[in-house]
Amino acid sequence: MTTDFSIKPHSANASDVRPNTRGLHMITWGCQMNVYDSARMTDVLRPLGYAPVDDPAQADMIILNTCHIRDRAAEKVFSELGRLRHIKEERSTEGRQTVLAVAGCVAQAEGEQILKRAPYVDIVLGPQTYHRLPEMVARAARAGGSVIDTDFPAEQKFDFLPDSEAPQTAGNVTAFLTVQEGCDKFCSFCVVPYTRGAEASRPVASVLAEARRMVASGVRELTLLGQNVNAYHGEGPDGGAWSLARLAYALAEIPGLERIRYMTSHPRDMGDDLIMAHRDLPALMPFLHLPVQAGSDKILKAMNRGHTADEYRRLVERLRQVRPDLALSSDFIVGHPGETDEDFEATMQLIRDVGFALAYSFKYSIRPGTPAAGAPLQVAEAVKDERLQALQALLREQQDSFNDAVVDVVAPVLFTGRGRKPGQMVGRSPWLQPVHVDGPDDLVGRTVPVLITERRSNSLVGTLVEECMPA
Ligand code: 5AD
Ligand code: SF4
Repeated sequence: MTTDFSIKPHSANASDVRPNTRGLHMITWGCQMNVYDSARMTDVLRPLGYAPVDDPAQADMIILNTCHIRDRAAEKVFSELGRLRHIKEERSTEGRQTVLAVAGCVAQAEGEQILKRAPYVDIVLGPQTYHRLPEMVARAARAGGSVIDTDFPAEQKFDFLPDSEAPQTAGNVTAFLTVQEGCDKFCSFCVVPYTRGAEASRPVASVLAEARRMVASGVRELTLLGQNVNAYHGEGPDGGAWSLARLAYALAEIPGLERIRYMTSHPRDMGDDLIMAHRDLPALMPFLHLPVQAGSDKILKAMNRGHTADEYRRLVERLRQVRPDLALSSDFIVGHPGETDEDFEATMQLIRDVGFALAYSFKYSIRPGTPAAGAPLQVAEAVKDERLQALQALLREQQDSFNDAVVDVVAPVLFTGRGRKPGQMVGRSPWLQPVHVDGPDDLVGRTVPVLITERRSNSLVGTLVEECMPA
């Protein structure tokens, strides 16, 4: 899983439609995997003449790419669909057709339900079937009815998707690249194994080719994505399965690729070779998203996480031995069924022991069909609220003190674009902190030493080191 779990939708950036093209409006919820998938669906539809538009009223096709990870996801989708229905009807009175598609994990989980409650939806497709989108569009147009495709096909969607074209990443300094999908871990609380299906890795050659294309178009920092990215086992050119570590060594050879990150990792798949890669590869950034979820052995067992709290502590120790500046981020769930005050305190203790630079924390919410949903000893909502507040206060303290620690330090900042204020540029530190400086536009794409002077609530302010030097 990934870091942007805001359940607010973000629309694709779009240029104006050219004549003879059809407008495509994409609304994306949830994780970076979905952001990536939206870009790929845009790629798949481009040969059919679809080009992105910002305004849904100008769109011949609207795709809602949905996220199912936590509560009320389906309700949000239905309320958005209600809004889009009006647009579709309005356009139809003007004689214009609008294909309405629901993609992503809610589509996977609630396919039939969607068509029942929102019969004006034309296409429902699960995350494994994006490569069939053109065919579905054609079928929907022909049939005039709805098409549903939420299979887990035997063929790999990775093998069928076209390579992303350079324009998609043109001008971007940082980019995501999906290398792995799905999950076989079956954590008690999680829908991903049911919605995203079994683990699958993309072949090494295809990853390397896409990475090279991205770097050629200006990308300097790549984040490898996967629900269980460190379980990567893609087929190598030698026919054998390559680990994520081996892939990282190969990527680090690409000239111009300065930074490599990966997320999300499972503690159980943090192999020795990956730990050693953090020692050997300066390009592998010293920031690791390694969710632990809870700190009580009893709850970790109930969650089916497959490791104890001490095993997690030892893993972090080993990582920090080889890469002392490594910062960690994590996901936490409070109020998993059976969690007592004592169990919660064990989570707080783990947080104190490890120290996190960043964290995402959630109240346990029932996902129908998962093992924890039917478990006895569900925790009262008010108790969950209280625990979440205490946990977030501690994590906030840790985040602030982590950010405070880089004030007065010179850090290499990779500049990604202009800031909001005129003359201001924004980049990111090795530890994924946004950094603002006053500087020229041509900083974009360059990694430059910056003296960090100030910590804001979620970002840093600094000055270019050259400017600080006496002339
Ligand atoms: N309830 C609360 N949080 C959940 N997550 C996943 N499923 C649930 C659930 N049922 C959280 C986990 C995961 C993150 C992406 O979302 O912490 O790591
Ligand atoms: Fe869900 Fe667990 Fe798989 Fe992560 S490892 S996707 S939490 S089942």
